[in-house]
Amino acid sequence: MKSKFFITTPIYYINDVPHIGHTCTTVAADILARFHRQLEDEVFFLTGTDEHGQKVAEVAEKQGISPQEYCDQIAPRFEEAWKNLNISFDFFIRTTDPRHEKVVVELLEKIYQNGDVYKDKYEGYYCIGCESFKTETELVDGHCPLHPAAQTVKKSEDNWFFKLSKYVPKLIELIEDEKTNYIFPEGKRKEVLAKLKAGVNDISISRENVEWGIPLPWEKSHTIYVWIDALINYYSATRFVEGKEGFWPADLHLLGKEILWFHTVIWQAMLLSAGIELPKKTYTHSFYMIDGQKMSKSIGNVISPSQLTDLFGVDGARYLIARSFPNENDSDVGIERFKERYNADLANNLGNLVSRLNKLNENLDIKFEKLDNKIDEKFDNLLNNLRFDEAIGYIFETYIDKANANLNQFTPWKLADEDPKKSEILADCIFNICLAANHLKAIMPESADKILDIFTQGHQVLEKPLFGRI
Ligand code: MSP
Repeated sequence: MKSKFFITTPIYYINDVPHIGHTCTTVAADILARFHRQLEDEVFFLTGTDEHGQKVAEVAEKQGISPQEYCDQIAPRFEEAWKNLNISFDFFIRTTDPRHEKVVVELLEKIYQNGDVYKDKYEGYYCIGCESFKTETELVDGHCPLHPAAQTVKKSEDNWFFKLSKYVPKLIELIEDEKTNYIFPEGKRKEVLAKLKAGVNDISISRENVEWGIPLPWEKSHTIYVWIDALINYYSATRFVEGKEGFWPADLHLLGKEILWFHTVIWQAMLLSAGIELPKKTYTHSFYMIDGQKMSKSIGNVISPSQLTDLFGVDGARYLIARSFPNENDSDVGIERFKERYNADLANNLGNLVSRLNKLNENLDIKFEKLDNKIDEKFDNLLNNLRFDEAIGYIFETYIDKANANLNQFTPWKLADEDPKKSEILADCIFNICLAANHLKAIMPESADKILDIFTQGHQVLEKPLFGRI
C-alpha cells in the first residue's frame, strides 16, 4: 500500500520578494517531496503566500491600490520564482482565497464553542516586521532584534485571547514522550520544552484596528490576527483542494528558527482546542548568513533565486542550496563560496566524469538496459532527516569517487577498444554514475535524468558540458 506524505513550507509574506532564505526552505521541501514520489509515496506538497495584516495594508496604501490588488500583483512573483527553480509544489495557497477564509472561520468557531477564548485589554509592543507582539524583555534598546530598523509601537486595545496556557500541560506531555514528540531537531525540542515549563501567557488572536484581515466570526468589527489565519493554511488546503482530504495531518512542516514557537506551540494548541489531529513532525532549520552577516536590504547583500539560477543553472542552484542547508547552525554562504563549490563538485568532478565516460564510450556504446531503482538505506535516512550535505557527500564518496578512482587506476583510454578489459572498466564506472544519478534525482532532477539518459541510450554527442565551469 502506498503511504501518504504531506509536506509544507511556511507561507511567505507577500510584501517581500523571494530571496535565498525562502529558497532554502522551499528547495528542501521540494527535495523531500520529489524523493517521496520517487519512493512511490503519494505526495502533497503545499506552499503559498501570507497575504493579510498591517504590513500589506500599509504597502498597498503607499502605492495607492487596494490590498487585494497589491496581493494579486505580487503573489505570482513567488509562484514564478518557484517554477523557475523547478519546485514541484502541488498547490499554491493564498490566504486571501475565500475557500481558505471559510475554513479559518470554521476552525475559530470551534475554539470559541469550546470556551477557549475571552476578551481582555492588550497592552504591549507590536513589531510590524514580525507581525507579532513583543514583551519588553524581548526588545533590545526598544527595537525588535529581528527588525532593528523598524519602530516597535506601543499598543493598548481590546483583543480576544486564546487560552494557550490551558494546553501547556498537554503539550509538555506530548513533547516529552518520544512516541508523540513532533519537534525536530532535538535542540529545538529542548528549547520549546524549557520555554513551556517557564510559564506561558495566553495570546491575543484578534485585532481591533487592522482592517486587512478575516473578520472574527463572533465580533465582526475585529479581524483575526494574521498569524492565526496563516497557520490554518496547512489544514485549510486539505479541506478545499480537491482530492486532498486524506492528507491531514501533515507529515512534515518545514520552517525557519524564528517561527518555531508559532509552529510548535500555538498551532498545536489551536488544533487541540478544535479537536483536530496534530501534525506528525516539524523540522526547524537555522539561517543563511551572507558572508558572515545577516541578510538585509539595507546592507544590500540579499541573494535572489534568479541570481543563483542565472549563474549556476537550476540544478546547480538547487545543489548549492542543499549542500549548504543550515541544520542546527547558521550557514555562511555567498556567491564566491558558491562558485568554488560549484566548480569543485559539479564542473570539475561530476560534470567532468560524465564527459570523460561519454567520450570513452564513443566507440563501445555501452548501454545500461535497466537500472535497479533501489535507494541506499543510509542515504534515505540522511535525506529524511534533512542532512542534505551529508547525504550528497555520501553519494559522491560511494559512487562518484569510486568511478573516478577506477578510471585513474585502470586508465582505460590507454586500452584498445577491442580489449575486453576496457569495456569492463567502463561498464563498472557507468554503473556507478547511474547509481549516483538515481540517488541525486530529487536534488538535481534534470541533470540526473540527463545522466541516466546518456548512459541508457549509449554514447551521445553533448552540445555543452552538463556543468560548465564558472
Ligand atoms: N508569513 C510567515 C510564515 C507563516 S507560516 C504559517 C513568515 N514569512 S516570511 O516570509 O518571513 O518567511 C519566513 C521563512 O523564510 C522562515 O521561516 C524561513 O523558512 C525562511 N527564511 C527567511 N530568512 C531566512 C534566512 N536568512 N535563511 C534561511 N531561511 C530563512 O514568517
